[in-house]
Amino acid sequence: APLTIAIDGPSGSGKSTVARRVAERLGIGYLDTGAMYRAVTWFCLDTGVDLDDEEAVVAATERLPLDLGTDPGAPTVLVGGRDVSREIRTTEVSTAVSRVATKQRVRPVLQRLQREEMARIAVDTGGVVAEGRDITTVVAPDARVRILLTASEEARLRRRSTELHGSADAAAVEATRDQVVRRDRDDATVSQFAEAAEGVTLVDTSDLTLEGSVEAVLDVVAA
Ligand code: CDP
Repeated sequence: APLTIAIDGPSGSGKSTVARRVAERLGIGYLDTGAMYRAVTWFCLDTGVDLDDEEAVVAATERLPLDLGTDPGAPTVLVGGRDVSREIRTTEVSTAVSRVATKQRVRPVLQRLQREEMARIAVDTGGVVAEGRDITTVVAPDARVRILLTASEEARLRRRSTELHGSADAAAVEATRDQVVRRDRDDATVSQFAEAAEGVTLVDTSDLTLEGSVEAVLDVVAA
């Protein structure tokens, strides 16, 4: 049977980088489900869909011509054939994405697509690492390996600050705090990471390097 691995965690837990490295090490495909919520958000902003209009956002999600490149070394996101990998990471999209992700009728549309993508990638590459916020609990509770990656708020702020500003000095961390803390709050109805769900292994990366986090996840996979 294919090796299916589900990884959830909050912003700055390192889940995207760790998930990609783990997929590379195991030679299997990678699915970034956050990129799918971001792509819908970018598409709505780009085409003038009102984010307060749930019906319109659901319709946009259903007609979104989304294509995901699932090579963990170079994942891509295409909408209507256009590569929007960069566009979906702007502050504008990061600030708006929770408004899409918290819509009760949008989530099942993307969750179904995520299950289909996971199955397709698993068949194509012999396995899949899927990461997000509800993969271990809702999208793939039957995954072979399920991991919750967490880190202290300070560690998450430091990482996101380095990612966004190239520095984790006091000023850069403060500039990041609003984004990270606000999105945790905005996402609160989607996911709570205070504890791992039953059968999900908790990996706390606060005191681990990136390589250490990758090894910790590979240890859980091998166990
Ligand atoms: O990497 P980062 O935590 O900044 O964000 P991401 O993984 O790209 O996810 C962006 C947003 O998509 C999250 O803040 C959630 O609002 C939403 N999301 C979700 O609702 N469910 C998922 N499985 C993945 C992401």
